[in-house]
This record gives sequence, C-alpha cells and structure tokens, in this order.
Amino acid sequence: MNLKKPLNALLAAVMGAGLLLTGTANAQKYPDKPISLVVPFAAGGPTDTIARLLATQMSKSLGQSVVVENVPGAGGTVASAKVAKSKPDGYTIYIHHMGMATAQALYDKLPYDPLKDFEYIGQVADVPMVLLGSKNFPPNNFKELEAYIRANKDKVTMANAGPGAVSQLCGLIFQSRLGVRVTTVPYKGTGPALTDLVGGQVNILCDQTTQTIPFIKDGKVKVYGVTTPKRLSALPNVPTLDEQGMKGFDVKVWHGIYAPLGTPKPVLEKLNAALKKALTDPDLKARLDSSNIDIVPVAKQNGEALKSHLDAEINRWGPIIRKANIPD
Ligand code: MLT
Repeated sequence: MNLKKPLNALLAAVMGAGLLLTGTANAQKYPDKPISLVVPFAAGGPTDTIARLLATQMSKSLGQSVVVENVPGAGGTVASAKVAKSKPDGYTIYIHHMGMATAQALYDKLPYDPLKDFEYIGQVADVPMVLLGSKNFPPNNFKELEAYIRANKDKVTMANAGPGAVSQLCGLIFQSRLGVRVTTVPYKGTGPALTDLVGGQVNILCDQTTQTIPFIKDGKVKVYGVTTPKRLSALPNVPTLDEQGMKGFDVKVWHGIYAPLGTPKPVLEKLNAALKKALTDPDLKARLDSSNIDIVPVAKQNGEALKSHLDAEINRWGPIIRKANIPD
C-alpha cells in the first residue's frame, strides 16, 4: 500500500487548518499596526480630502492610525494596480471614485480587473462637478465660452488628471458635445490643477465641488456650469450645463472603498463597520455638506452594493466613452 498520498493529504489538511487558525487569530487581533489608505491622486485634491476625512474617523473606531498614501499616476490606474497586488492582510485599503469603472473603456489593457482583483467594502459619497475657468480667461459665461473655444481652439488649454480621472471624463464629454478639441494639460490630480487654474497657467478645468466652492465664491475662478441635472444649493445662481444647452449632461462622482482580493472576511467586516461609523460623524458630514457632497444611504455602504454599482457603471460608461471617442 502506498502511504505517501494519504500522508501528504493529512499534512496538507493540518497545515491548512493551521493557516486558517492563524488567519482567524490575526483577524481577531486586527488591526495591531497602522493601516495604509491608498489614494490614486495627488494630495490636496478632492479624493485626498475625502480620504483624509475618512482616515481620521476610521482611526478612532479601529484604534489604529489610518495613514493616507498618495499614489498618483495614469488617471488612478497606477494605484489600482498597486493595490491589486498588495498583501491582502487588511493593512492596505483603497479609495477610488468612478474612475474604477471608466478606466476599463479608456485603456486597451489594464494590469488589474476592477471586478475580480479586489474586495469591496462600501460606497461613500457622490460629488457634483463644476466647469471652471481661470480669472484671466476672457469668456465670462457659458455662451461666451462656447464661442471663444470655437474661435480659439488651438490656444485653449484644459487641465485634467489623466485618462481615468473624472476631470478628464467630464472635460472630454464637454468637448465632444461641443464638437471641438482643445489642448489637454495633464496633472497628478486636480489639487495641483486647481492651483494652476487660479494662477492662470491653464484656462479651464472640470473639477469636483470638494475644494472648488470657496474659490468660486471668492471670485478666484470663473464658473461656467454645474455637471449635474439640478443646480446646487451651495451655488444656486450657477446654471447647469444641461439647462445651457448640453441636454442630458449628467456627471456625478461616486466613491468606494476597496481592499486587495483575499483580505479575510472578519477584517472586511471591521473595516466596513468603521466606514459606516465614520459616515455618521457630524464634523465629516458638515464638511461634505458644505461642498454639496451627498453621503450615500446606509443601504449602499456595503461591499455587495459597491460591487454591483461598479459593474453597472462599467456597462453604463463603456458605450458613452466609446461614442465620445475619448482616448486622449
Ligand atoms: C483628484 O482627487 O485629484 C481628482 O479626483 C482627480 C480626478 O479624477 O479628476
């Protein structure tokens, strides 16, 4: 009788049980060191701001620091690839916006699969966008902007944060609706892009409301329209792009929290509980409210809802992006 096979199987079973026990024990101790929250864009921008608000609150309930790590590049895809390959131990988590869905149609081949290479912790918040111009840029309203771009398309510069960034998506839908392409200036995030817009180094930018409302109210930038179908309560006098002729213009930026595939379930549960608690914090809510950012309902603050939303958004944006002939 060959005893080698059953012995090997027994050994494998004992080792498997050991690993399982270690995993469970680790999950019980989790977290016992700081957690890295990866942000796919530069510091000081909209994604970074939401990440830092969440990190502060999640640290409180997890009893460990949650440290923001900015990994900008290629419209967020550098960070997504890095997180997909990170150790699935709960010490690397990830915040990304709807670029997680749109990148699929913008790149021929991504080094990760948004629907297969991650664990899904929950949705966070929806952020409107605004189309902005620098103070020294001649057009004063949307009609003038359209006419100016048509007459000066070779001179006009538009900032964005690379293919996969929502600033790029919004900007290219705008240009495709106008039927005119301008010169793109890529940044590592809209934080640095907004700085250059205020400084007049670049002409226009489509950015989220997270940082931009005070700049609009203080007259440091011009605003040409809101990207959502309804006007914003923080900017009641700013018309939507839809009402100014770009019918159906509807871009609102959703966000999710992810972990690398294989992160243990008990760890994901702890992270989800910390996320949910963070989203009830009055200071965090007040900060988001002031920027017209909507925290998603509790029913969407979980992994299943995030994954099915991501799936639906990949299907929604693919045809729109291909129709707008977006590669840039
Ligand atoms: C950022 O955080 O810099 C932005 O979300 C980039 C973008 O997608 O436009």
